[in-house]
Amino acid sequence: MVKRYQDFCAEFGIDVPIFGFSHSVETVAAITNAGGFGVYGATRRFDHEITSELAQIRDMTGDRPYGVDLVIPARIPAENNRAAMEKDVPQEHRDFINGMISKYDVPEPSGPGKRTRFIRSQEIISAQVAAVENSDVSIVALGIGSPPDVVARMKGAGKVTAALIGQERHAEKALAAGADLLIAQGYDAGGHTGVVGTFSLVPRIVDMAGDIPVLAAGGVATGRHIAASMAMGAVGVWLGTAFLLTEENAPHMSENQAQSLIDAGAIDTVVTRAESGKPFRQTRSAWSDEWAAPSAPRPLDHPLHDVLVGDVLGAIQEHNNKPLAHSGAGQGVGWFDRIRPTADVISQLWDEAKTVMAQL
Ligand SMILES: Cc1cc2nc3c(=O)[nH]c(=O)nc-3n(C[C@H](O)[C@H](O)[C@H](O)COP(=O)(O)O)c2cc1C
Repeated sequence: MVKRYQDFCAEFGIDVPIFGFSHSVETVAAITNAGGFGVYGATRRFDHEITSELAQIRDMTGDRPYGVDLVIPARIPAENNRAAMEKDVPQEHRDFINGMISKYDVPEPSGPGKRTRFIRSQEIISAQVAAVENSDVSIVALGIGSPPDVVARMKGAGKVTAALIGQERHAEKALAAGADLLIAQGYDAGGHTGVVGTFSLVPRIVDMAGDIPVLAAGGVATGRHIAASMAMGAVGVWLGTAFLLTEENAPHMSENQAQSLIDAGAIDTVVTRAESGKPFRQTRSAWSDEWAAPSAPRPLDHPLHDVLVGDVLGAIQEHNNKPLAHSGAGQGVGWFDRIRPTADVISQLWDEAKTVMAQL
């Protein structure tokens, strides 16, 4: 049976069934204030930063709901010890990165990049989980994997727990762990992504989920996509790419990163392991091209790959390097070609969705 998005919105305290993922506090608040549900991507933030940034979002949103997203991979080191990991980076990989730095003239970064500020480790993640548990967010989304102990803790703290799903096996695990909301994220999506397209994934996950609500993600870029998502049985949508070119998010990107998004269409994104060691969709650039060359080394496993690339990725952004500039982005990126207020993105999406649903 098709679930009514109106009931879902009432239950979650939102006006429109649009969830927006962002790494920017201002963008998250703007999504929530526009009647959607803003979710703060906090996986690269220290626990004390999470505490203060969630409090900032609360200050900006009054009593409206917002959420936070953490990524908890299955295999990570126990400790936040970069020096110990550096020893495992092969010389071939260091030479490759140093070659790119000199070929594209990338100056030194002023500090570690976002992937090297800390090592994704049990030590860091358990502090992040505690910060989120003690915050007042209403939803906690788990990006890769839904560890049953974390789901139980979050539920115990009264939080709705959402799980990103890329294939049926993920849904089985998330449902068994007790997730309250599933986000079926298809291949089209920006950032880390799986192999099943959104159209093939969403109805399957809706069927598996029973009474648990499902949001559709990956390539949702217009009101037509929202209407289609509802027709597939989703109660709403979850978007990331749509909120990159917004006035609130633009200050967090380099100019060339923003330009790479403005210029990109669907065929200008690639899935590469060059960003993190795991498949990640981003705008194509010399960064992804160099890693795809036959002579390039294979990307390392995650999170060792972070240790290799974190600083240079930070430098590419900090120094506004043009050939290597890229951004995580989904195949729907072509619908977003200018920087505008987040509230405009939401209202355009929802106005079109309502029109299309009325016409069907
Ligand atoms: C730049 C970027 C970074 C992302 N980082 C994360 C992340 O840290 N955790 C997560 O759960 N999802 C992350 N995502 C995926 C989004 O949550 C969302 O599922 C995805 O953007 C939806 O597809 P779309 O990009 O086509 O809208 C990221 C997406 C983008 C574009």
